[in-house]
Amino acid sequence: MTVVEPFGLNVRDQALEADVQAGLAAVEAGLLDATKSEVPFITEAAQHLVRAGGKRFRPLLVMLAAQFGDPYAPGVVPSAVVVELTHLATLYHDDVMDEADVRRGVASANARWGNSLAVLTGDFLFARASHILADLGPDAIRVQAEAFERLVTGQILETAGSREDSDPVAHYLDVLGGKTGSLVAVSGRMGAMMAGADERVVDTLTQYGERLGVAFQLADDVLDIASDSHESGKTPGTDLREGVPTLPVLRLREQAAAHRRPDDLELVELLDGDLADDARHAEVLSRLRVHPALERARQDTLRYAEEARAMLAPLPEGPARAALEDLCNAVVHRAG
Ligand code: IPE
Ligand code: IPE
Ligand code: MG
Ligand code: MG
Repeated sequence: MTVVEPFGLNVRDQALEADVQAGLAAVEAGLLDATKSEVPFITEAAQHLVRAGGKRFRPLLVMLAAQFGDPYAPGVVPSAVVVELTHLATLYHDDVMDEADVRRGVASANARWGNSLAVLTGDFLFARASHILADLGPDAIRVQAEAFERLVTGQILETAGSREDSDPVAHYLDVLGGKTGSLVAVSGRMGAMMAGADERVVDTLTQYGERLGVAFQLADDVLDIASDSHESGKTPGTDLREGVPTLPVLRLREQAAAHRRPDDLELVELLDGDLADDARHAEVLSRLRVHPALERARQDTLRYAEEARAMLAPLPEGPARAALEDLCNAVVHRAG
């Protein structure tokens, strides 16, 4: 059994693995090419996070989805580059919004060059993604534009917070569908679309991607609490510090309200206090790591991954479908 790096997915079929590896290598070259500017500083800033690594989860999904048509069709690799560039741009912007200092194991762009340059570099990456997209035709442009709108809407709804009269968990899941599900859905869709797969296959992979994307973000939110920075390449507890309500915290609040256990109520009070205070932040983090609410959030994550896997049923059986099934596991059992 061989392993496709960098995401660590086991691909059991050699021909498929060779295809995926070749595709991902072409995506790397495409990313470096797309991030070059005549202005040396822009190249440095735009390539900062490209060179720092990342899992290339979305390009991997594009490659696997393309297996349901002609995986060597000319639009497949550029569409993967578009999706990863879009993702990358959102990371530049996200780290500004989340005041994150570390990304992909290196200083975030905002920590290194300040917020303005980080935002502008993100914009530069969007511009380059649009440029590549222009050659992929109006359907691809429309698909990407719709997903981008949903992604931004998700980030805006997260920032605005849930309304008093709405269920916080429902709001949170809505946010996740927008900010993460949308682009992962596009990855499945673009791969299949560019490879000329059947309409029904394209739809199946779109729905699968949406669900997988939510599972992926749920896992990310669990990792914000459970992982250390060596594994994630990010600073643990960033969501907590920024007051971004994630599922473990929402489950804790539910449990505290339902059972009113003194320990839980105290933890909620700590959470609602000033988490810019390092000692308080560390205490909340260590108590959450062993709290049943975290386990509950893990179970929710597994359920989403299972649902994503079940959505693959209409696809023809074979190595590509098996790899997509395995991807559901890889997404929720990853360490970073
Ligand atoms: C981080 O995405 C943001 C989320 C949607 C959770 P990834 O976990 O795919 O980040 P990289 O690309 O591997 O750095
Ligand atoms: C990342 O969101 C940005 C998008 C999904 C658009 P998060 O803030 O939840 O992810 P990390 O943990 O910083 O990677
Ligand atoms: Mg964020
Ligand atoms: Mg963030």
